[in-house]
Amino acid sequence: MLQLGAGGAGKSMAYAIARESPAELVIYNRSAGKAEELAASLSKALPSVPIRSGDNNPSGFEVVVNATALGLRDTDPTPVPAQQLSAGTLVCEAVVRDGDTPLLKAARELGCTVHHGQWMLYGQIVEISRFLGVPLAPEFVERILGPAD
Ligand SMILES: NC(=O)c1ccc[n+]([C@@H]2O[C@H](COP(=O)([O-])OP(=O)(O)OC[C@H]3O[C@@H](n4cnc5c(N)ncnc54)[C@H](OP(=O)(O)O)[C@@H]3O)[C@@H](O)[C@H]2O)c1
Repeated sequence: MLQLGAGGAGKSMAYAIARESPAELVIYNRSAGKAEELAASLSKALPSVPIRSGDNNPSGFEVVVNATALGLRDTDPTPVPAQQLSAGTLVCEAVVRDGDTPLLKAARELGCTVHHGQWMLYGQIVEISRFLGVPLAPEFVERILGPAD
């Protein structure tokens, strides 16, 4: 898996991903030191999972996840060189907006499967409601907030 971004959301996402024991987790961040720090602290917490910092070339990854702030505007650049995405890759967003981000748009055009940021938001609502003792079913959240894609 390749994760782009190591900010607030990126830290939580990388931890959640690493706990699922991916074959490898590579973290890229514009400010490289943050990706290196995050990879080092996750490796310490989950030593059996191969985690490292790396570049943003998405070629050959099964899953690419955007945890950067890029994508809210149609004019935003994609956080990866989009032409290097592989057709079979699952491309996921943290950014929540109507329609595809530039990354999801490019990925869709290349034949990738895409996953919108709303799903992450919906998942958090389900978890928060469970924590508060008033659990909501995922289907209920989706019905109230609308389909995620
Ligand atoms: N779906 C959800 O439920 C959910 C939940 C939380 C957040 N989000 C979304 O996730 C995104 C990140 O949120 P956050 O809280 O992690 O923000 P944050 O802590 O401010 O981190 C921003 C991240 O984006 C990178 N970034 C910002 N501008 C960039 C640019 N021009 N080029 C390349 N990288 C850039 C930053 O890199 P540097 O470290 O180099 O600045 C950093 O990795 C936002 O779009 C937010 O709305 C979604």
